[in-house]
Amino acid sequence: MTETVTELKEIAVVVLAAGKGTRMRSARAKVLHQVAGQPMLHHALRAALSLAPRHLAVVVGHDGEAVAASARELVPDALICAQEEQLGTGHAVKMAEAALAGFEGMLVVLYGDTPFVGTETLMRLTESPGSLTALGFEAADPGRYGRFVLEGERLAAIVEAKDATPEELAISTCNSGVMAGPAPAMFEMLGRLTNDNAQGEYYLTDLVALARADGLLTRAVLCDETETLGINDRVQLAEAEARFQRAARRMAMQSGATLIDPDSVHFAWDTVLGQDVLVEPHVVFGPGVRVADSVTIRAFSHIERTAIAEGCSVGPFVRLRGGAVLDPHVQLGNFVELKNAHMEEGAKAAHLTYLGDAEIGAGSNIGAGTITCNYDGAMKHRTTIGQGAFIGTNTALVAPVTVGEGAYTATGTVVTRDVPPGDLAIARARQQNKEGFGTRLRARLAAQKSQKKASENAKD
Ligand code: UD1
Ligand code: MG
Repeated sequence: MTETVTELKEIAVVVLAAGKGTRMRSARAKVLHQVAGQPMLHHALRAALSLAPRHLAVVVGHDGEAVAASARELVPDALICAQEEQLGTGHAVKMAEAALAGFEGMLVVLYGDTPFVGTETLMRLTESPGSLTALGFEAADPGRYGRFVLEGERLAAIVEAKDATPEELAISTCNSGVMAGPAPAMFEMLGRLTNDNAQGEYYLTDLVALARADGLLTRAVLCDETETLGINDRVQLAEAEARFQRAARRMAMQSGATLIDPDSVHFAWDTVLGQDVLVEPHVVFGPGVRVADSVTIRAFSHIERTAIAEGCSVGPFVRLRGGAVLDPHVQLGNFVELKNAHMEEGAKAAHLTYLGDAEIGAGSNIGAGTITCNYDGAMKHRTTIGQGAFIGTNTALVAPVTVGEGAYTATGTVVTRDVPPGDLAIARARQQNKEGFGTRLRARLAAQKSQKKASENAKD
C-alpha cells in the first residue's frame, strides 16, 4: 500500500515548447527569448525542477534543435520529444508518451511560454495524485483563454473560447494550461482525442470532459493571474519583464537594500542583494550576481556572474563581465572592467582599468590605465599580482606574468617578465629635455604655415 502511494507521488513533467510563436516575428523560437536574463524555457524548466521530477520531457518542434540544446544546457538528461507538426496541445503531450513508457506516477504539463508559475502553486496542483487537475485563474480579460466550466468544486469541462457558447464565454475563470493527473490514464485518454472543433486541433483541455465521463475526479486549482502570464508577442514579453522587475525591486528593498531610483535598476532572475546594499540609478544585474551586505554600487554599472563580498564599493561605470570575485572591501572606480578576475581583500582599482584572467593580491593598488594584456589572439593568459603591490599608472601587464608581493611597477611600464617581490619594474625610454627646442620648433612651424597660406592666395 505504502509502495503504491510513493509510486503515485513520482512526477514526470512535460514542457510544451513546439509552437512557433508566430506573433513574436522572430527567427528564433519563442521560448528562447529571454525574461529576467534567461530564456522563458528555463523559467519553465526551473519550475518543473522544483517538483523534483523523476523525468522531465520537453516537446520541441519549431527550431527544435536550438530549443533542445537550450533545455539540455539546464537539464542535461531532459527527454527531448519531437512534434513534427503542431496539431494541438493534446497532440503535443502525446509526443512524450514513448519517452515516458512504463511511468506510472503523476504527469504534470507546463508550457514553455509561461515563465512565472510558482513552486507553491505547483505543489497545490500535485496534492491529489489520483485526480485530473487543471490550474486556472480569474482573468481580468478572459479573451482567448479556455473557460473553466465548474460544477461546485468539480471541474466539468474546459471549453476553448472559439468553441464556447455565449454563456460559456461569460465565464471569467480561465485555463492556464497547466494540468496534472495520473500518467497512464492521461496517455490513454490522449489516444481518444479528436480534432473535431473550431481549430481542428487535438486539445489537451478535452481531457477534462473525458476524465469526468470515465468517472475520474476532476479538480480545478486556482492561482493568481500573474503566475499564468503567457507570452505571445514582444509587447507581452516586455510586460512580463516589467512585471518581473517590479517584483524583484520590491523584494530587494524589502530585504534591506536601498535603491535610490528603483525603476532604473534591472535584476536577473537570480540576483541576490544583501542588507544595507546601496544601489544608485541605472545599474544592470545580469545572471549570477551575489552581493553581500553593506556594498555600494554606484550609477551606470553593469554586473554579471560576479560575487561581491561585504563592504565593497563598485562604480560608477564599472563593468564586471563574469567570473569576477571581489573579496571584502575591494574598491573599483569609474571605467574599470573585470573578467575572470579575483581581487583579494581591500585591493583597489580606482579608474580606467581592464583586469582579465587576473589574481590581485590583498591591499594592492592598481593605477589608472592599467591593462592586463591577457589575450594573444589565440589563448588567454593569467596575470598574478601579489599582496600590497603597487601597479603604476598606465602599466601594461603582458600575461602570463607575475608581480610579486609588495613590488612596484613604474608609470608607463610594459611588464613582460615576472617582477620579484619587493622590486621595482621600470620599462620605458629614459626622458631627455632638449634646451629651447620647444620655442625654436614653434617658430619654424608658424613660418611654414604662413608660407603655405601665401602660396594658396597667389593661386586664387
Ligand atoms: C491554450 C489552452 C487554453 C488556455 C491557454 C493558456 C488548449 C487547447 N488551449 O490555448 O485553454 O487558456 O493555452 O495560455 O490547450 N504547443 C505545442 N504543440 C502544439 C500546440 C501548442 O507544443 O501543437 C505549445 C505551444 O508552444 C505553447 C503551448 O503549447 O507553449 C500552448 O499553445 P497555444 O497554441 O499557445 O495554446 P492557446 O491557444 O494559447
Ligand atoms: Mg498561447
